[in-house]
This record gives sequence, structure tokens and C-alpha cells, in this order.
Amino acid sequence: KQPHIVVIGSLNMDLVVSVPRMPQVGETLTGTGFKMIPGGKGANQAVGCTRLGAKTTLIGAVGCDAFGGQMIMQLEAEGIQTATIERIENVPTGTATIYHSPNDNCIAVVPGANEYCTPELVSSHERTIREADLLLVQLEIPPAAVNRAMEIAASAGVPVVLNPAPAQQLPEEMLKLASFITPNETEFELISGSSSAETDLQHGMLKWEERYGNQLIITRGKQGSSFLLDGVMETAKAPLVEVVDTTGAGDAFNSAFCVAYAGGQSKELAVSFAVKAASLSVTKFGAQAGMPTLQEVIEA
Ligand code: RIB
Ligand code: NA
Repeated sequence: KQPHIVVIGSLNMDLVVSVPRMPQVGETLTGTGFKMIPGGKGANQAVGCTRLGAKTTLIGAVGCDAFGGQMIMQLEAEGIQTATIERIENVPTGTATIYHSPNDNCIAVVPGANEYCTPELVSSHERTIREADLLLVQLEIPPAAVNRAMEIAASAGVPVVLNPAPAQQLPEEMLKLASFITPNETEFELISGSSSAETDLQHGMLKWEERYGNQLIITRGKQGSSFLLDGVMETAKAPLVEVVDTTGAGDAFNSAFCVAYAGGQSKELAVSFAVKAASLSVTKFGAQAGMPTLQEVIEA
């Protein structure tokens, strides 16, 4: 059956400046290109879900400016339910200014309207959340709103996937509401206070799962993704690909995991599928633009 995934999160217009290398402090560098591409972790993940075949609703907020209108139109064209995206007067739509070099990226996010994605806004869509097959959230909107969404879902028995990005410390009670938590290695170190060195990882994961009663899925870039199976760490290896742009790889991973898991796959299979989707996403420029389709993942 086609799962219905509700994503709550940010919408940003990504202002992508291509540079030959990262500028130094105080330096003026000539860039090689400029593109405006719809982004924001919430919107990216929603696009990822819909391209992989899920019915997808995005709850979030944009301004009444041109960027906001443009992004809603694009999301609609992707087939996403957008009636749940609020338009806020007198605040700018979120932006992310991205320096993109052949090896790296550097991002400064201005939340703007994303700050207006409040617990009240989330509560006004309680019914939609309760009826979802899965709730997917990240941390580019106020944590209180994320928490409210997680409470609603958990109380209705809807599985919750929390992608703790960008990394920040969260209250224990909130972490316990998640069914799955999907940090990258840096985020895992920050939220758990334990090291993500290969030798310590399994131990850190076991401790975490015991304490919070949820399941960890750690994304590890080129190495793939690690999780526990009967207390033993397994790693789904990533295929070798030619990297064009890693922005949004985490978003692709989360969407794909959610679509596969909500569609009835086991955790292991869902992680393998997600690793493939994330690997494909880095072969294309742009976060949202690089989200693979179901057909592309199947053929990979
Ligand atoms: O995860 C990638 C996203 O993070 C980008 O699209 C940008 O908007 C930043 O928020
Ligand atoms: Na990409």
C-alpha cells in the first residue's frame, strides 16, 4: 500500500554560490556560479518522499514573498500536499546561503518564516498527523513545535523518525518520543556525548538504545549507515559514486528510509534502500533537485 508520510519542517530558498575553494576570513574570492534552488530540510525530505512514491504532506511556514510562492508552486508540482504550509506576513521566507566547492560546502541559514512554524500551527494539523503512517521531523523549526508533533504522533501510535539536524541538544523526554533517530556521526556525538569512533560506536549505540528506548540509524557519509541488529552493529555500505554535491544527502537518506519502512520493509532493508538513495543524490547538483526517483533507486 502507498504510505502517507507527514513531514514537518523547514522550507528555505537555497542561494548556492559555487566557489573553487572555501574563502578565508577577510578574503574576497571570485565565484564560478550562482543558483537559487528550493531547499530546507523539511521541504527536501518531503520531495524525497514523494519522488519515492509516498503520499506526502508538508507542514511548515514561508513568507508572503516571491521565494515563498515559488517554493509552494514547486512542491505542488511534485505532488506534495501543501495546504498545510502557512504564509506569514512581514517575515522573509527562510534562506540558506551555501558556498559549494568541489570538496565541501558551508551553509548559513536564516530561518525567517520557519520560526513561525509553532506548536500552535502544528496542533492545528493534529488530525493529519494522527492519520499518517509515519511522521518525519528535523530541527530547522522551533524545537517546541517538533516536540508537539512528536507527542501527537506518539499518542496516536504513529511511528516517528527524528532527524536531529542541524545538531542540537534535546530534552530526554523529547528524544524518547522518537521511534527512530537518524544522526550523522557528528550529530550523534553531540546528542549522546559519546564518541563515534568505529571502536566505540557499537557500545555508544547500545547505551543509547537502552536509555531512550528507540532505534538509532547513524549515517556515515561514504561509509554508508550503521544500526544495531540484535545488539550487534551492522553497516549498510554505500556504493562508490562520483560526488557532485553532498547538500541534501542526509535528507535523501531520511526520505528513503521512511518510505521503505512505512511501506512495510524491515529496518535493515529500509536502511540499504536509504543508503542507495543518498548515494544517488550526491551525484546531482542541488539538495532538492538531486532527490532520486523510485525508478532510479531500483535501477541503481
Ligand atoms: O539539508 C540540506 C538543507 O539544509 C539545504 O537545502 C539548506 O536549506 C539547509 O537548510
Ligand atoms: Na545533491
